[in-house]
Formats: sequence, C-alpha cells, structure tokens
Amino acid sequence: MRNKLTVVGAGNVGANCAVWAAKKELGDIVLVDVVEGVPQGKGLDLMQAGPVESYGVSIAGANDYAPTANSDVVIITAGFPRKPGMSRDDLLLANYEVVKAATEQAIAVSPNCVIIVVTNPLDAMAQVAYMVSKFPKNRVIGMAGVLDSARFRTFIAMELNVSVENVTAVVMGGHGDTMVPLVRLSSVSGIPLTELIPADRLNAIVDRTRNGGAEIVKFLKTGSAYYAPAASAVEMAESILRDKKKVLPCAAYLEGEYGIDGLYVGVPCKLGAGGIEKIYEIKLTDEETAALHKSSASVKELVEVIKKKMAA
Ligand code: APR
Repeated sequence: MRNKLTVVGAGNVGANCAVWAAKKELGDIVLVDVVEGVPQGKGLDLMQAGPVESYGVSIAGANDYAPTANSDVVIITAGFPRKPGMSRDDLLLANYEVVKAATEQAIAVSPNCVIIVVTNPLDAMAQVAYMVSKFPKNRVIGMAGVLDSARFRTFIAMELNVSVENVTAVVMGGHGDTMVPLVRLSSVSGIPLTELIPADRLNAIVDRTRNGGAEIVKFLKTGSAYYAPAASAVEMAESILRDKKKVLPCAAYLEGEYGIDGLYVGVPCKLGAGGIEKIYEIKLTDEETAALHKSSASVKELVEVIKKKMAA
C-alpha cells in the first residue's frame, strides 16, 4: 500500500512540500487549505507535471480533512505571516489558533500519523501541536534544524567553493536569532571548520546563518522563504516514511535532556518509522550550553503566553 502524506496549508511552503514529495514519490499527497479552489487547483496542476517529471503519485486538494484520512505523515504549514501593526504575541496567538485547528482536525481522521510542524514561531507551534494532539512526543516534531543547518552548510560551501555534499553542520536551539550553530561539530569531509576558515569569517557565517530567514524576507518583501523550508520538511517526512533513520536536527520535546524540561527545542534526532526514535544528548562546552539555554529561554517565553491562553 502506498504511503499517504497530508500537507496543511497550500501556500508557498505547503505547495512546495507537495512538489518535493511528489518528485520523491513519497506517497499519495493531500493538500488542505481554507481558501476554496487553491489546494484543488495546485493539486491538479502538480499531478499534470507527473507525466513530465515521471512521478505517479496522486495529489489531491481539499478544504476539509475527510480526504486526508489515514495519513502516515501530516506536515502543518498553515499560518499567517506577520502583518504591519501586529506584535510578536499577536502573530503567536493567531498562528496558535491555526495550528490548533489543523492539529485537531487532522488527528481526528489520522490518529496514528506523525506530525511535522513548519508554521512559525516554530518551536512554540510544535509545542501547540503536541499539547493539542496529546500524541506521544516522538510523533510530533518541529522542522527548523534541517533548514538552519542547510543554510549553514550552504554558506560554508560558498565560502570555500566546495561541494555542499561534503559539508556537515550542526545547528541546535530554537528557530530564531538565538539559534546555536555549532562550529566545533561542523566539518568539510571530516576536516574541522576551524582549520579551513579564519575565525572572523566563521563568525560572519554563523551570524548570516542566524539571520538566514530575515535575509530572504528582506529580498522578497512580501513573504518568507519557502523552497528550502519545504525541502527540509520533506527530508524529515522521507526519513520517517522510508524508515531511513537519518540523524537530523529537529525541534523535539525535551524532558531533561541538555538540562531543558517540558519544552520543544532543536536537538539532533534519529527519524524513522516511529517518528523521533532517538534524541542524541551530546556533550557541549559550557559556552555552547549557555547559548542553548539562552535560546530555550526565548522559546519558553512564547510557550508561557500560549499556556496562559489555553488555560483562559
Ligand atoms: N487551515 C488551513 N490552511 C490555512 C489556515 C487554516 N486554518 N489558515 C491559513 N491557511 C493557509 C492560507 O490560506 C495560506 O494558503 O496557510 C497558507 C499559508 O501560506 P503562505 O501565506 O504562502 O505562507 P508560507 O510562506 O507558506 O508560510 C507558512 O511556514 O515557514 C513558515 O513562517 C512561515 O508560518 C509560516 C508558514
């Protein structure tokens, strides 16, 4: 039987998730959006690319969740971007409502799925999906680290004029400007970055990685990045659906790991058929631990706002 993948939100990120997933033939795909016609139109359009691109999966669009029943993986990309006059908390609460509704409706018909959250603010939205679904923690995962480390890898490859395929990079922490790119654990074919790039250039690359999303927003003006975020979410979905057991940085619910308890934060995880099959707790330096805790504190602030809203 074919796998089934639902993508909630047929906007820029959601539609591109469908594109990458179709190209990889991960399974049949259902796009869901509140806007009438858009998921249906994009789904049909994408199916018509199948004969050209040689994929044979079905891609359907819907405004309700009935066609998504028994999905193996649900990627949630639905949400609003920040509009003028909106505070961070306004956006947080608006997207809280969207992610809450999407989670409730998706799990009602796919009680065994793994949820991958992409909607921002990422770590807090992953926590919303976890709290609302009451799923085991291994089946609710946030997409951030794959994207952040892909950006880090890209900038390193650009700096050295080497293949991105040889660059591995670790980024931990929340998906925001407090994220923690770990230079010490990143390399080019095993060669430590510090042997290849002078400290001042490395610092600049770390900074550029932290602001990788903002750099794209500045160019696009009316929206945020979507190709790399979508590709990253689909890499996670692929590792789960094909049980590849890839080790990828993901936002995971921590219960004491790294001294963080009851919070979604980006850490290295093994992704397989069960979702998160292992969280790797690696030994960090004091400085790295402090940076990770600073980053998790900013996630906690947002989660507190949501918890207050949920209790009200
Ligand atoms: N259910 C389903 N879809 C919804 C809902 C909802 N309750 N509310 C909004 N949407 C849809 C919108 O109709 C729109 O098509 O979500 C889609 C969002 O698409 P875009 O505005 O193009 O935003 P996008 O760039 O895809 O980003 C989506 O991913 O990377 C994050 O920060 C980004 O939180 C944002 C999310």
